[in-house]
Amino acid sequence: MPRLSPSIITAAAILGLFAGCKSPAPVSPPAPAAPPAPIKPPEPPPAVWETENPVVPLPRPPLGVQADFGKLKVAVTPEKVRLGRWLFFDKRISVDGSVSCATCHRPESAFSEPTPHSTGVAGKVGGRKSPTFINGAWPLFDVYFWDGRATSLSEQAKGPMANPIEMGGTHEGVAKAIAGVPGYRRIFRAVYGDDRVDIDRIADAIAAYEATRMSGNSRFDRFDAGDAAALDEKEKLGRDLFHGKAECNQCHLGWNLTDSQFHNLGIGWAGKPGKPGKAGKANKEGFADPGRAKVSNKDEDTGAFKTPTLREVTKHAPYMHDGSLATLRDVVQHYNKGGNPNPWLSPKIKKLKLSPAEIDALVAFMTALDGEGYQDTPPKSFP
Ligand code: HEC
Ligand code: HEC
Repeated sequence: MPRLSPSIITAAAILGLFAGCKSPAPVSPPAPAAPPAPIKPPEPPPAVWETENPVVPLPRPPLGVQADFGKLKVAVTPEKVRLGRWLFFDKRISVDGSVSCATCHRPESAFSEPTPHSTGVAGKVGGRKSPTFINGAWPLFDVYFWDGRATSLSEQAKGPMANPIEMGGTHEGVAKAIAGVPGYRRIFRAVYGDDRVDIDRIADAIAAYEATRMSGNSRFDRFDAGDAAALDEKEKLGRDLFHGKAECNQCHLGWNLTDSQFHNLGIGWAGKPGKPGKAGKANKEGFADPGRAKVSNKDEDTGAFKTPTLREVTKHAPYMHDGSLATLRDVVQHYNKGGNPNPWLSPKIKKLKLSPAEIDALVAFMTALDGEGYQDTPPKSFP
């Protein structure tokens, strides 16, 4: 193809220009002015309570924790977790502003409480020990509370808010109190798309925060992952007893060391049927607290309670549903003597004939279940 000389190109360009001038486009009448766009009030700049509590990425499950946020029925997002964390620590969700979830579920006690019974609004005392919920979003079976009466963390979270001896309010009252805080409305909008505040969203956000409280990477996990030096000789003996002679793993099994089932160990047994139980409440079965039987209506569930996780177990003394055993040694001794015999005692509970050294070893093993990942401190500031 012959090269075009620059002059031809220039001429063509000029022709083109003139061609453009030859037939001017008809001037169309100006389009009617578009109605002014509605002025959206700009979001105010982030407040101090927002910058002090930034959105953080979801934590990665620590070693040994078989958690998968993608498998949860509740969507867990970093923004929702931040909201749930505020609500969890916020006393304004109790009827008189005196109690938050963290009053009875303290981070330093692995989200349980260092007392046998919880004290709620106006100093009212309940009959059960506040349990830990670490790793609680991935149970083997969907049962929450000592008697399993709730089936999800979000359903569970609604309980205390309307419990007269815990937070003392009503679900409507809680939603109204939170909706009355403009900062919260703004965060609800960011998380849920609009600023409706209701009990389901409050519980959903709290459950998302709870799901991020995981504990793993303990010496027990590192040993199981192949680090033979993670446990000392005594702890190794304890580990063997736990899975062998003492058969603790009949019920404390799986990565979270619980079968999510209900068993009677004779805790809270008053002696013989007909006698009042420890809390002074007369009960024909002789148990201060009927436990699972109240939910299942099955006689054989009398005095049965949910197997708790043993992770972070050094942090949640006193032990059992009524906090009646003060130390881990007391617990092992309870098992060693075959529990408290009663008509409903689990057939899995038998005299163990452990020597004092073996009792020591089991206690030592349980201290190796302390890990990391769940720790937190209250938010610096609130909406
Ligand atoms: C007054 C103390 C108190 C307050 C406040 C309280 N709890 Fe509890 N929590 C308890 C006690 C006691 C239990 C065990 C009750 C039972 O089993 O019947 C419990 C049980 C639980 C469980 C069940 C854990 C499991 O593995 O079964 C979860 C989760 C929980 N609470 C979360 C919360 C949340 C979320 C809040 C705030 C909305 C809250 N709690 C407020 C005392 C309290
Ligand atoms: C038959 C099932 C079963 C067996 C076997 C069993 N446990 Fe338990 N464990 C439970 C249940 C259920 C509870 C709660 C009972 C209650 O509160 O009434 C519990 C509670 C505990 C607690 C208290 C935890 C807390 O947070 O309060 C510890 C510690 C414990 N078990 C350790 C052991 C050890 C060590 C062994 C072996 C010697 C063992 N368990 C064997 C079912 C079992």
